Amino acid sequence: MALLDKHKIIERNATLLFIFSFLVVTVGGIVEIVPLFYLQNTIEKVEGMRPYSPLELAGRNIYVREGCYTCHSQMIRPFRDEVERFGHYSLAAESMYDHPFQWGSKRTGPDLARVGGRYSNEWHVQHMIDPRSVVPESVMPSYSFLMNTPLEVGNFSAELVANQRVGVPYSDEMIENAEADLRAQADLNADSSGLLARYPKAPIGDFDGNPEALSEMDALVAYLQMLGTLVDFSTYDEAAGYR
Ligand code: HEC
Repeated sequence: MALLDKHKIIERNATLLFIFSFLVVTVGGIVEIVPLFYLQNTIEKVEGMRPYSPLELAGRNIYVREGCYTCHSQMIRPFRDEVERFGHYSLAAESMYDHPFQWGSKRTGPDLARVGGRYSNEWHVQHMIDPRSVVPESVMPSYSFLMNTPLEVGNFSAELVANQRVGVPYSDEMIENAEADLRAQADLNADSSGLLARYPKAPIGDFDGNPEALSEMDALVAYLQMLGTLVDFSTYDEAAGYR
């Protein structure tokens, strides 16, 4: 029987076609997926990575709620044009505590993976209130209501517990101090030593410029200001992981 005839048999028998298609997809899937579990750069731990502080996590929740990811990616690809514009390409470890991750593939606006520290808090607040007042050609919507929306602190430790359940290493101490840490990060007069011991490099400030109230703007700007700042790329060596 010619090869073509054999193929006809498979094509005309739905069960056989399904079984062979299933085999092909399975083998193809395994070949693509399994190496990822062994590739050094997808599983390496990178120095500097830590779970989000409570205020940053609250900001991240607002980022997800407002759908910022529909216009912004957080994934710098290892291409020259991207690296020159946004900074060092993203490492897998940099989104290890993101549930869900915010990589995205739609860039109506720029990638935000390393926007932390690029602008002042005042710039961010003005930009969120009225994007076109700082970037005249911007098509980004205004999020001015975040200024007037008090941040719900309530039982914020529950957010940390939820993340702990999916594998983020929040300690009992972090969970116990969640609400106090959340307030301390947005208050220049608070004692932030405990906060900084638990969450090194956490940016501290009155992010929204209004010391009277803790707003959703405080949380969102705190989150934006820490994005991409945890790993120190002056000591990170691509080939060796760390020098
Ligand atoms: C409709 C698409 C759209 C949405 C939704 C959107 N943005 Fe933007 N964003 C843009 C565009 C376009 C720019 C570039 C022009 C500008 O700076 O305003 C931008 C710029 C930015 C920048 C400045 C980045 C840089 O490197 O200059 C930040 C920060 C930012 N957006 C944050 C946010 C956040 C936070 C949200 C959600 C609350 C959001 N954006 C929602 C389109 C969007």
